[in-house]
Amino acid sequence: MKATAKAHTNIALIKYWGKRDERLILPTNNSLSLTLDGFYTKTTVHFRNDLLRDVFYLNDTVVSGEAYNRVTKFLDLVRQQFGKQDLYADIRSTNAVPTAAGFASSASGFAALAAASTRALGETMTEEALSQLTRQGSGSACRSIYGGFVEWQMGMKADGSDSYAVPVAPAHHWDVRVAAVVLNATEKDVSSREGMKRTVDTSLFYQGWLDGIPQDLIDIKDGIRHRDFEKLGAIAEANCLRMHATTLGAIPPFTYWNHLTVQVMETVRQMRQIGIPAYFTIDAGPNVKVLYLPEYEYKVEQTLRELPGVADVILSRPGEGITYL
Ligand code: DP6
Repeated sequence: MKATAKAHTNIALIKYWGKRDERLILPTNNSLSLTLDGFYTKTTVHFRNDLLRDVFYLNDTVVSGEAYNRVTKFLDLVRQQFGKQDLYADIRSTNAVPTAAGFASSASGFAALAAASTRALGETMTEEALSQLTRQGSGSACRSIYGGFVEWQMGMKADGSDSYAVPVAPAHHWDVRVAAVVLNATEKDVSSREGMKRTVDTSLFYQGWLDGIPQDLIDIKDGIRHRDFEKLGAIAEANCLRMHATTLGAIPPFTYWNHLTVQVMETVRQMRQIGIPAYFTIDAGPNVKVLYLPEYEYKVEQTLRELPGVADVILSRPGEGITYL
């Protein structure tokens, strides 16, 4: 009744930004990501007969409040799916991801939790079924089941049975690197969940966001297939800017950027002007992720580290999907 799984986080190149069903976590658009080896969560789930409630430790510290509730709510789903309503679990996670700093720690967290909890109950699941289950913990997590480039197909059905991730190209297909530029390790103001809801409900720019997705997906998949870095980078950067534009059209308007975010974006553009192919993408927080190829690693890292206000630069390669330990 005990199992351990490891999952890596992922960075969206075509963003998931909006839900059509908040309970089942069904998105309004397909998204596409790269799984990263640098950030991961390792989780051990131990179902025990002597527990009266779940206990959850993150990095050896007991967790309560909202983070605890999300974990037990997710385990309720797992218990319900497999008819194990009377079993509680001891959950121990270690996060090699700066939590809540825009690094989607929820992605690796829920992917590892889904894999470890189902394995602990002795269930073997297809990757498709595991992705569907994981999705209900956190949308972006459903992509972390697979390594490399991954697409989350939004699906059309109301019950979510056709909404799950599929692999696009494995990690070894193409060594695209990502430098995560850490600007501010404090908790973010508007969570991605709240931000995307406000945007869907109120942003005048939301339809424009949706309209751009189909072509972006066609183009970026073509870029991945042909290992065309300029194409991949340009589409990822433009898609990120359109996602962030929707927040400015929301009521009340908001932004995830601060002045340091804009400074890094500008620096990436300047790198391109002097012949270093680098592109940025940003999730629901101020930190910036910079895409580059291995031969430019030294230059990209040095340039980013020299910027004032940069606390750290963490480098990643394409990572693998779920593993059981
Ligand atoms: C901006 O997956 O954290 O990182 O489904 O509500 O848990 P919930 O949201 P979450 O949102 C991620 C949003 C994003 C873009 C992306 O990862 O695709």
